[in-house]
Amino acid sequence: MDDPLWQQIKQKGRLDHFPVHWLESTESTNHLAMELGKAGAESGTVVVAETQTRGRGRLGKSWQSPKGSGLYFSMVTHSTLAPNELARITLATGLAVCMAIEQQGSLRPMIKWPNDLLLENRKFCGILCENFGPLGQGGSLVVIGIGINVNTPREAFSADLTEKATSLLIHQGRSMQRGALLQAVLLQLERALSQLEGGGFASILKQWCQRDVTLGKTTTWLRTDGRVVTGLSLGPDHDGLLQIRDRKGQVHEVLSGDLSLKT
Ligand code: BTN
Repeated sequence: MDDPLWQQIKQKGRLDHFPVHWLESTESTNHLAMELGKAGAESGTVVVAETQTRGRGRLGKSWQSPKGSGLYFSMVTHSTLAPNELARITLATGLAVCMAIEQQGSLRPMIKWPNDLLLENRKFCGILCENFGPLGQGGSLVVIGIGINVNTPREAFSADLTEKATSLLIHQGRSMQRGALLQAVLLQLERALSQLEGGGFASILKQWCQRDVTLGKTTTWLRTDGRVVTGLSLGPDHDGLLQIRDRKGQVHEVLSGDLSLKT
């Protein structure tokens, strides 16, 4: 049985002031949001799907989207931030999702730079922010994609993910209303984006660091060129890029790639 807000989204195509395109299935909500954004959809337009056939993750990975149990959605935003400030949007989004989840229940999610939200070191949410370039009226089109394993049972994860993935259901022991959670995330996200556009990244970063799982810990960074850097995580800098200090004292700026805690 759908929760009341989910039904409302399906019937009215709106959630509060956010226009919402609800789909039974789509290739990727990020892809559709990009198309709508390029066709002139207003900032704040949301695409949400019950399942995705080719859900996209960072670094060319895929995002498993089992039908009906998760939240898979993307928001069209018009951003005045520079293209090299995209990392800030990813961090602000992660914090907004954490705060929305906290409002809805008793869980306190943590974050692994840049976009993994974790419960007991297992990932339940991923974020994919994509910049699709300048818009006619100034600013650029940014699509913020969020995948949350909400009511996903353990057995729905494929064998390669069972050790790494989790869901809110597994940790909270009860299912959550996806409509209410979506509403809370959209409102928090809207607040965070306006804070960001107003030059308030420092305060977002401060709160983000309180949830940073690698801060002050020995961390391994697998670079996209295959090289590995191990060192102390110093947290993100003013642009949202992670700093790692290796044994020789050299500070590396992490632009992309995968992080893990050294065990
Ligand atoms: C990651 O962890 O690598 C990012 C995963 C992002 C998944 C979401 S699901 C909704 C939106 N549509 C996509 O194709 N990807 C994002």
